[in-house]
Amino acid sequence: MCGIVGYIGTQKASPILINGLMRLEYRGYDSAGISTIEKTGISIMKDKGRVKNLYNLDGINNLEGTIGIAHTRWATHGKPSKENSHPHTDNSKTFSVVHNGIIENYNELRKFLSDNGYKFYSQTDTEVIPNLVHYYYTKDSNNDDLKFLRAVKNACNDLKGSFAIEIICKDYPDNMIVVRKDSPLVIGKGENENYISSDIPAILSFTRNFYLLNDFEFVVLSRNDAKFYDKNLKPIHKETQTIEWNTASAEKDGYDDYMLKEIYEQPNAIRETIGAKFSENSKCEFDELNFTKDFLSKFNKIYIIACGTAMHAGLAGKNAIEKLCKINTEVDIASEFRYRDPLVDDKSLCIFISQSGETADTIAALKLCKEKGAKTIAISNVIGSSITREADYSIYTHAGPEIAVASTKAYTSQVVLLVILAIYFAEILGLNSSELSSLKKEILELPKKIEKTLELSSDIKDFSKKVYQEKDIFFLGRGIDETVAKEGSLKLKEISYIHSESYAAGELKHGPIALIENGVTVVSIMTDPKLVEKTISNIQEVVTRGAKTLVITNQNIDTSMFDFVIHIPETSPFVSPILSIIPLQLFSYYISKEKGLDVDKPRNLAKSVTVE
Ligand code: F6R
Repeated sequence: MCGIVGYIGTQKASPILINGLMRLEYRGYDSAGISTIEKTGISIMKDKGRVKNLYNLDGINNLEGTIGIAHTRWATHGKPSKENSHPHTDNSKTFSVVHNGIIENYNELRKFLSDNGYKFYSQTDTEVIPNLVHYYYTKDSNNDDLKFLRAVKNACNDLKGSFAIEIICKDYPDNMIVVRKDSPLVIGKGENENYISSDIPAILSFTRNFYLLNDFEFVVLSRNDAKFYDKNLKPIHKETQTIEWNTASAEKDGYDDYMLKEIYEQPNAIRETIGAKFSENSKCEFDELNFTKDFLSKFNKIYIIACGTAMHAGLAGKNAIEKLCKINTEVDIASEFRYRDPLVDDKSLCIFISQSGETADTIAALKLCKEKGAKTIAISNVIGSSITREADYSIYTHAGPEIAVASTKAYTSQVVLLVILAIYFAEILGLNSSELSSLKKEILELPKKIEKTLELSSDIKDFSKKVYQEKDIFFLGRGIDETVAKEGSLKLKEISYIHSESYAAGELKHGPIALIENGVTVVSIMTDPKLVEKTISNIQEVVTRGAKTLVITNQNIDTSMFDFVIHIPETSPFVSPILSIIPLQLFSYYISKEKGLDVDKPRNLAKSVTVE
C-alpha cells in the first residue's frame, strides 16, 4: 500500500527520490520521507502529509548523498505522524529502512528485541526491521563483504507477513540491499546507477530496463552492479526486461487529472487489448494459453475472483462465459473467497483479475486455489506483477499505466479481455459459432464507439452540475446493466464522497424503494433489449415518487418521462458495459471536480492494496 523508491549512482539522490515519490503518491500519501548516506553518516528527513511537505523541509536541498531510499506511507500500524513515517532506523543509527507491507509478528519481535535492550520510538511494525538487522549484525563476528547481507537475510527469516524492503547501512556506503515477499518491488538499471521502485511508472523516465524480483530474492546493489541471491544466499543470475511503455503515457499529457486522461485513453486501451487476438473471420488465439478441447472440457466450474472494480469486470466475464460456453461460473470477492473454504478442486478453472497484479487478497485467493489443485489464470495490466508470477497462465490487458486511484481504462480493458476469453473458450469447445462472429465484429467496432461516447462528455458535465450537492444517488439496472450500476456507484462514492447504492432494478420494490423521495437522484442503465421494458417499469415507479432520473441507454425508447437521457451507441449486451460505464465515469469525475476534490487521490484510498 505504501510506495518506495531508491537510488544508487553518481547523481545527488534526493531530487530523484522525491520525483519518484511524487509519482508513487497514489499508493499512499499520509507521510513521506527519505534517507541518504552523507559524509557524516545516515541522514533521515521525513514528515507527516504529502510529498510536497517533504520537498519543502529545511535542509533537504543540502543533501549530497548519491545513495538513498524513500517512502510514501499509507498508515497500517500507527497513526499518520512524523514518528511513524519511514525511513526507520535502529537504535545505533547504523541502518535505515523503508518498508511496504505488514509484519504480522511484529509484537513478538518487538518483545524479543526489547528483552535484548532495544528501544522503540514509533508505533509501526516496520521499526522492528532495522533493529532486528542490527541484532544479527552485531552477533556476526565475520567482518567480510557479506556481513550486511547476512544480517538482512537473518532478519528476514524471522519476519512473518509481507514486505518489500530497502535498507542502507552506514558501514556499507556503496551498497543498498533490497528484498521482497508478497509486496511489489522492481529494479531499474541505468548507466552506473540503479533505481528501485514499487512500480515501473515511477522510474520509467530514468530507465526502461528492469529486473523483476521473486519472493525472497535478495539484491545487493552498487553503482554499477546488481548481485542477486536466493533465500539461502546462493548467487543467482537475472536478466533485465525491457518495458515498452513510454514516459508520456505515465504523465498527464495535458489533462487536468490522470483520471480524465485515462477515461479518454479507453479507445486505445481497448484497441491494444484486442490486439491481434482475432479478426472478424479468424478464430481467437491466446499464445499464452494454447488450450485444447480435452483440457477445457475437464473443468466443471469456473471461478472469477477479484476485488472492487476488477470484480465488477468479472461479472461481465461470468455473463459471457456462462452464455457462450455453458460453463457454470461464479464470481467472488477475493477477501471473502479466501476465508470461505470454497469448493475448488482440480475440476475448477480459476481466473484472477487484478489491474496492479499486487492486490494481497487476490494473490492469497490464487495461492489457495493452487493448493486445492485448480488451474489458475491471472489477468493483469502489469507485466511481471506478483499475480502473474504465481498463476499457471497469465494474460494481459494492455491499458498502459493506470495512475488515478479510481480505475477506468483497466475496467473496460478487463471486460473486453474476458469476453474475448469467453469467445476463445467457446470456439475451442465448438459452441455458438454464428453468434461469435457477430460478437467479434462488435468488439472490433468498440474503439470507434467509445470515441463517440466520449463526445457526450459536455452533456454529462451539465447534468453533474445539477446534482453535485446531492447526499445520496442510486444506480439501477438489470442483467448486464446491473453490473454497470455496481461499478458506476463505486466510482461515484470513491471520488465524490456522495453516498450511493446500486440495486438490481427488480429488487427495488423489495425494500430500497422506501428510500426514494422527492428530488432523489436515480441513475439507470438500459442497454439490454430483452430487459429494457422491465427496467422502464421500475424507473416509472421512482419517477412517480418524485425521483430525478438520469438514463443511460442505447435503445430506441420513449424518454419523455426522464429528466436527462444519454444516448450511447448500440452494441452487443456482452460488451455494452464498455460503453455504458463511460458516461458514469465522466459523471463521477465531473461531480468530484465540481466539489473541488482531488480526483486522482481520493481520501483513504490507495491504488494498490497490498495488505489484506
Ligand atoms: C476502484 C478500484 C479498486 C480496484 C481494486 C482491485 O476504482 O480501483 O476497487 O479495482 O482495489 O485492484 P487491482 O485490480 O489492482 O487488484
